[in-house]
Amino acid sequence: MYETIRIENHDGILLLYFNRPDKLNAINEQMYQELDAFFDSLATREQRAQVLILTGEGRAFVAGADIGPYETMTLAEFRAFQRLGRRVMEKMERLDCPVIAAVNGYAFGGGFEIALAADIIVAAENAKFALPEAKLGLLPGGGGTQRLTRAVGPYVARRMICAAETIDARRAYELNIVTEVAPKGEVVAAALELARTINRDCAPLAVSMAKRLMREGMEASLPTALDMEMDSTALLFMTEDKDEGIQAFIEKRAPQFNGQ
Ligand code: COA
Repeated sequence: MYETIRIENHDGILLLYFNRPDKLNAINEQMYQELDAFFDSLATREQRAQVLILTGEGRAFVAGADIGPYETMTLAEFRAFQRLGRRVMEKMERLDCPVIAAVNGYAFGGGFEIALAADIIVAAENAKFALPEAKLGLLPGGGGTQRLTRAVGPYVARRMICAAETIDARRAYELNIVTEVAPKGEVVAAALELARTINRDCAPLAVSMAKRLMREGMEASLPTALDMEMDSTALLFMTEDKDEGIQAFIEKRAPQFNGQ
């Protein structure tokens, strides 16, 4: 059904492969369109994803936007491509389920920007991260100047973007971008294990609301964010899963959440 992405279903945990390995999974318009359609389908399909994992086929996660078409693109076409990319990343950020980027190799340019729009990033020890657009006379226009700065602070972000610096998985871990470094070839297994832990131990509505609050709260004043937090907690207090979570704790057993 899709050509530039491939989806595997692991008992409700969806594994999405960026699938243009001969171009190091560089994102072209078709890939954005297919991602857009896939994210829409997650909101409508009966069995929603419990967790979504993103990774790359072959030796890269995603080596950025496909530079090839830039040579002949008009400004109007370039802007349309940028708008499409923004819509896709914002749609992904707003998915109910947690999104884990399992970075298996190069996450350059738009690839790093996709990872930054995910909720959690795990990386293989051979992963490399960069926003090298300045080398092309451009800048990271897929959210990179904003999301990286929010993630690591202005000084590290300025250095990475203005010097087009590449960092490895260990450095990304030190900078709190990556939460776990897995041996080469084992990053998808590490992401699957994390996804299964989330799925087994935590109520889906609680996870979904917490992730939204953490993202949206960062853009609000502290009192507003704390108001949002109180309201969300109150909503969760009325759910069946909260009853089940409390009951399971009291009965010293594992909870069985139903997402209600
Ligand atoms: N757009 C289009 N094609 C790309 C690409 C991109 N962003 N990144 C890699 N490719 C292609 C290469 O052109 C090459 O294709 P070819 O075999 O038809 O010549 C293929 O993928 C393999 O890449 P190659 O450069 O040979 O691999 P490498 O291991 O020597 O280098 C990188 C890997 C990631 C360092 C290098 O490919 C690179 O710098 N890519 C561009 C990164 C970038 O600037 N991204 C931001 C884009 S806005």
